[in-house]
Amino acid sequence: MDFSRTVLVTGGSGFIGSHLVCSLVSSYPGWKIINLDILDYCCSPKSLEAVENRANYSFIQGDVCNPQLVNHIFVAENVDVVFHLAAQTHVASSFDCPSVFQRVNVDGTRVLLDAASRARHRLLRFVYVSTDEVYGPSLDEAFEESSPLRPTNPYAATKAAAERLVRSYWDKYQIPVIITRSNNIYGPRQFAEKVIPRFLTLLHNNKKCTIQGTLPISRHFLFVGDAVKAFLLVLEKGTVGEVYNVGTSFEIPITQLARELVRRVKNVPESDVDDWIEFVSSRPQVDLRYPIRSEKLQQLGWRAEVSWADGIRRTVKWYQDNPDFWLDIKDQRIRSEPEASKTSPSVVRPAA
Ligand SMILES: NC(=O)c1ccc[n+]([C@@H]2O[C@H](COP(=O)([O-])OP(=O)(O)OC[C@H]3O[C@@H](n4cnc5c(N)ncnc54)[C@H](O)[C@@H]3O)[C@@H](O)[C@H]2O)c1
Repeated sequence: MDFSRTVLVTGGSGFIGSHLVCSLVSSYPGWKIINLDILDYCCSPKSLEAVENRANYSFIQGDVCNPQLVNHIFVAENVDVVFHLAAQTHVASSFDCPSVFQRVNVDGTRVLLDAASRARHRLLRFVYVSTDEVYGPSLDEAFEESSPLRPTNPYAATKAAAERLVRSYWDKYQIPVIITRSNNIYGPRQFAEKVIPRFLTLLHNNKKCTIQGTLPISRHFLFVGDAVKAFLLVLEKGTVGEVYNVGTSFEIPITQLARELVRRVKNVPESDVDDWIEFVSSRPQVDLRYPIRSEKLQQLGWRAEVSWADGIRRTVKWYQDNPDFWLDIKDQRIRSEPEASKTSPSVVRPAA
């Protein structure tokens, strides 16, 4: 079958990546969507069941840090578009094993950019999915795309370093890059290490929501479907070389988030809500808040369409309906360096 475009998604088996892959495969049957993913601890094969047999989807299990594999993909395929999401993403783990974060988030990005710069077929777009955490904390100022980057944890620092690499390949080789920096994203199928699925999983298991420290931490939350729409919009309408914040005005203190989830899941009288919340010892470094402005993306026509009330209702329902989804996944939050065997290319499911 002839395809009009070939899109390589890295990290397409993860939380956001799987929603992006499903959307691309379903919305663009004339495009070939290749997912390169190592299938780390945070993935479930069930996330892509809806598309795994589709003719325009193919999966490559492998490491984005493996230059032989990545170069081979760019030689074998006429890649038009890259969405680069593959990363280590858990902030607390990034203090425990920063070298793993540096390897995947920085070296992996360099390997991908290098392969793209050598490819015979010219890339149309390289979309790097970064995070608002690169700005560091702010109690009052909302960050614009031109604000300085002051990351305060190894995860955010490696994402900021990767952004710099992405920019340098635009400056040096004119790889047509676009960077997005999004808020915390939530929705169905997110692995239980992130705050919303963690609280929901604890509550479903009749355990209390544990909150680390007593600082007034708050977060902006964006529904995953809105984030995917933003990535597709910058692909079509974004300006090469630019950065786009992807943010929502919805912000909630973490304690209030826990209370809201207790009310939704446990349905207890108001006087009992706090009985389901427990404060535990604090994480080594945590940003209180990091607000961003998204006018630049809104000028392209993007708005967050899913309200918090609707998004969290859908998310809570999904976790209630799928209590066993993550059951067979071992939580190895603190990991050592990847085993050698993981770095060898292994194509497990070619395009149908
Ligand atoms: N979740 C959020 O709130 C959020 C917000 C802003 C930006 N982001 C960014 O979006 C991207 C995806 O985040 P997510 O929440 O879906 O994370 P996730 O942890 O669910 O997914 C990461 C994916 O990367 C894959 N991966 C890890 N190491 C790899 C390697 N060496 N080679 C190939 N694949 C590898 C994993 O197997 C997984 O499928 C990340 O780059 C993250 O920094 C996430």
